[in-house]
Amino acid sequence: MNADFRSDTLTQATPAMRAAMAAADVGDDVYGEDPTVNELQERIAALTGKESALFCTSGTQSNLSAVLSHGQRGDEYLIGENYHILLNEVSGASALGGMSPWPIKVDETGGIDPSDVISAIKEPDQHHPVTNLLCLENTVNGFVQSVELISELAKTAQESGLSVHLDGARLFNAAVALDVPVSSFTKSVDTVSLCLSKGLGAPVGSVLAGSQETINKAFRIRKMLGGGTRQAGHLAAAGLYALDHHVDRLAEDHHRAEQIAKGLSGIAGLEVNQASNMLWVTPLPELHAGLAKCLEEKNVKVIPWNPTMRIVTHLDIDDSHVDYLVQVFQDFFSDL
Ligand SMILES: Cc1ncc(COP(=O)(O)O)c(C=O)c1O
Repeated sequence: MNADFRSDTLTQATPAMRAAMAAADVGDDVYGEDPTVNELQERIAALTGKESALFCTSGTQSNLSAVLSHGQRGDEYLIGENYHILLNEVSGASALGGMSPWPIKVDETGGIDPSDVISAIKEPDQHHPVTNLLCLENTVNGFVQSVELISELAKTAQESGLSVHLDGARLFNAAVALDVPVSSFTKSVDTVSLCLSKGLGAPVGSVLAGSQETINKAFRIRKMLGGGTRQAGHLAAAGLYALDHHVDRLAEDHHRAEQIAKGLSGIAGLEVNQASNMLWVTPLPELHAGLAKCLEEKNVKVIPWNPTMRIVTHLDIDDSHVDYLVQVFQDFFSDL
């Protein structure tokens, strides 16, 4: 058994998704002539309740296109201190757009306190950068942010003149977990990026949605970032297929993560936190290296971060993988 729980980005396109990709009607998307890309963009605009949408090659590209569309050199954006745009997107907004991030503290589930947004906004003064954007994220490391919190944070920022961008790489996970439409989260924010290549199982793609004016700006920035692609409809077809077939099934990923949490919950010396399709597992410090080695030897792939390991369920994980992982953990601890 080879069970790869490192990330939901590891999924391989299913035969049916590959067939949809091969059969897609395509054109040159730089000319705006790819019907399948256009269909995907219209579909995401409708799902998010926005005027327009833009197909991007990755979440990093759609987030960066959004952030740079909202600001200019010397501006500042507020962002949760552990959010992906801040930590894992190569500081693109600073490097390419001259915009500086101002990290805001988050609680243990990635939530921001609205009062911390207010106190982080700089007074208009010749010494200060102009604070003009708040970047949110959902889910944050698997933790679902409530509709109420996202709405309150967005309202707080917008009342102070800021725009709001939501990194929704896993927003479908949040929507499925709470059984609400994606638009519940997106109606309060100005832009949202939705990834197709995470839980939804497409090989490539993220779609940015927002007002026509903002998407027009993002369109030029995407081109500058090398994201103007040609017969991208083959890739957009995977996204359309995923929207039709892989959204509701995210509940299965969440259920399997719960099953793992249940299976590991009784183990002394192991702390387990489950959040949608992710689990955060912390063994006693003296057991970390041994557990990581054991998992590797048994072909159970997790991200063995120290002190806390990450386990992610996804489209290519079934019940037999879950049972195997739980057994390997139980055996390791019972053999101590
Ligand atoms: C929360 C979040 N946002 C954005 C991204 C970036 O997506 P990509 O890897 O497609 O650039 C990721 C990637 O894992 C992510 O987890």
